[in-house]
Amino acid sequence: MGFLIAGVVGIATVALAWLQAQRERRIDLEDLDRRMHLVTHQIKDSVHDALRRPESGTAKLLADQLEGHRRLLGFAVFGPDGRRIASGKAVAEFTEEMKPALLQALAGKSEAIATIRAQDTNLQVLATRLTNEDGALQGVLVAVHEMSHLDERAAMRMVHFAYWILLITFLLIILVVGVTWAAYERPLKNLAEWMRRLRTDNAPEAPPTGLPVALLASETERLAASFRAARLQVSTDSRSITRDHKLWTRERLRAQAVDCLQGGQLVVVSNREPYMHQLRDGKPRLIVPAGGLVTALDPILQACGGLWVAHGAGDADRQTADAGGRLTVPPDDGRYTLRRVWLSREEEQGYYYGLSNEGLWPLCHLAHERPTFRASDWDHYVEANRRFTAAILEEIGSSEATVLVQDFHLALVPHLLKLARPDIRVGVFWHIPWPNPEAFRICPWRAEILKGILGADLVGFHLQQYCNNFLDTVDRMVEARLDWDHFAVELGGRRSLVRPFPISIESWAERGVPLGDALTRQTAQLQERYKLDYGPIIVGVDRVDYTKGLPERLRAVGRFFEKYPQHRRKLTFVQLAAPSRTHLRRYRELIVELESLADEINWKFQAEDWKPIHFLVDHHDAATVHAFLRMASVCLVSSLHDGMNLVAKEFVAAKPEEDGVLVLSEFAGAARELSDALIINPYDTEQFADTIHAAVEMDVPERRARMQRMRQVVEEHNVYWWAATFLTELSATRTSDLRNSGQFELPKGLKTAGVHV
Ligand code: F6P
Repeated sequence: MGFLIAGVVGIATVALAWLQAQRERRIDLEDLDRRMHLVTHQIKDSVHDALRRPESGTAKLLADQLEGHRRLLGFAVFGPDGRRIASGKAVAEFTEEMKPALLQALAGKSEAIATIRAQDTNLQVLATRLTNEDGALQGVLVAVHEMSHLDERAAMRMVHFAYWILLITFLLIILVVGVTWAAYERPLKNLAEWMRRLRTDNAPEAPPTGLPVALLASETERLAASFRAARLQVSTDSRSITRDHKLWTRERLRAQAVDCLQGGQLVVVSNREPYMHQLRDGKPRLIVPAGGLVTALDPILQACGGLWVAHGAGDADRQTADAGGRLTVPPDDGRYTLRRVWLSREEEQGYYYGLSNEGLWPLCHLAHERPTFRASDWDHYVEANRRFTAAILEEIGSSEATVLVQDFHLALVPHLLKLARPDIRVGVFWHIPWPNPEAFRICPWRAEILKGILGADLVGFHLQQYCNNFLDTVDRMVEARLDWDHFAVELGGRRSLVRPFPISIESWAERGVPLGDALTRQTAQLQERYKLDYGPIIVGVDRVDYTKGLPERLRAVGRFFEKYPQHRRKLTFVQLAAPSRTHLRRYRELIVELESLADEINWKFQAEDWKPIHFLVDHHDAATVHAFLRMASVCLVSSLHDGMNLVAKEFVAAKPEEDGVLVLSEFAGAARELSDALIINPYDTEQFADTIHAAVEMDVPERRARMQRMRQVVEEHNVYWWAATFLTELSATRTSDLRNSGQFELPKGLKTAGVHV
């Protein structure tokens, strides 16, 4: 390459120099011509006179005048017949070479000019025709000028030009190479060096700046984050509780929790309560709310005991709790205390339905639903967070405690708790995705929310990707110091670790659902009740939420029956749909939309005693959910965006016979762990329908192999493992006094309200 460039530069230099030398030579020639005309003109009259005399006198008369001077070699005079009459000494020998120009002048041309080569030199010849007054030819005057100096000058100029061009080219090359080095090579070398140091565990905090492409810079940061996370994970795993491959059980968690809590109390705080009482026919009826949070946290408190603080949202909640809002749960086997927090209708509307579910929920889920932010909702949110904090502080009094704050409803609680009790350990777990900073920045209270969360010693998300997004967001939106090496944030003298903890479930047996004969009887009842006597079923289990991709799922099921008619009357799709947040119009409308979509598809394909879709809207209890999952040969999870999705894991856990196929959205966090599921893009109806077909047709050995591997993941990484890793990590954090740092501001609206303790 270098030779090629040098070759091209060389050829171009020579060509340019030659062209320039030629141009200058032409100018010199014109100059020479002018001078020859001038000297010819000066002696022309004398020659005229001399030619009028007899020939012998002409030569004598002109003798001196025909001699040249320096490069003008001299003149020669020829008669009308072409004979030389007289000439200067120096030109006499060139008579022969003058002939071409002479002949042209004799032939009638008033003057003829020619360049001739003689005796290794170039001569310029100008022949001028001389006539008398009648126009009759008198003779020809020929001037001869030597030209070697012009050639020498041309050659010198060429060399001169070549030098200049080479010099300029050289300077240009230096400039280009310099600029390239400064703009690309140096940053890339720095990047490579930084990566090497990153690999050898010694990198500075941030990647080098000034990378030539912005995208490269942001990708580098992400790459670094993932790399550090992976390294951190490896080092954590190597010293952690997961090193041995013993399964995590209630008992083992209880023992681990005793170690971690060091005599302190375990407190869980969430908006949703694990046990809710609703009036049914005038009597309180116990409901275990659907959703991942309750599924995951209840077993932990059952194992460890402690306190759960939550909103008492059921209409029979007050009458089933004591005056302080307390009761022991589970009601038939009291293992821990539930403390209900009372909110007025208006507060619930603003804090839960408004800011949490119309603001933060669509903000964090990229499901094309526009968030709504109202100032009045924010005020209620702040006040509700204060109320939850006050309830926790009231419950723990002055005792030691570890508080696990759950989810996006209570983002301010960690900060508020630390303001009142800097000594307690606070962990927060965000059950939904954390979006990228560009998406999050539209929240008007983004800084308050981030600072609220950063009151915690440990901030947990399901996936590393959410941790990276969170740190990116903090980096851009608050004045905090990021410690990428340890995935930590320092704000106002406090330090919060940010870690992924993929949440999970306990086994179905531990949930006390019917098994064995009882399950067989229950299954038969359900089959009879829903007329499911057409062989295997495909199942879906969800809260009715627009993030779950339910219309997409129904459309894919419809397309499946359309495209693969051989499965009609042989398979049935059952969707268990738990109504959720029905106070919001968007959620009510979704139920109506889904019911009519199911109707349309049923209308299109149903036969006399078979309908393809059973859309069962109800709060199905755990036993019913389990029975359906156990019955199903295929389970569909089609979330458009989902922090984890525990139904996917529940399906796997419901398959002890290791048969069944999970069809799982690539946009659900569970897809990272359950890679043996058939992964779909729920927006791609055709692919989704084809995948259902592939699931139904999959041969037994493959089904078993995939299910076996997924079951191993879910068994090893069960909810006890999740809680143990969280508690262990939290117990290793340092707590520090936030009040003395003077850096933390109370969120707007709290200054006057205060936290009453
Ligand atoms: O999955 C996110 C989540 O907030 C869970 O924490 C909760 O169990 C679920 O949604 C149900 O939401 P809600 O409590 O509003 O019914």
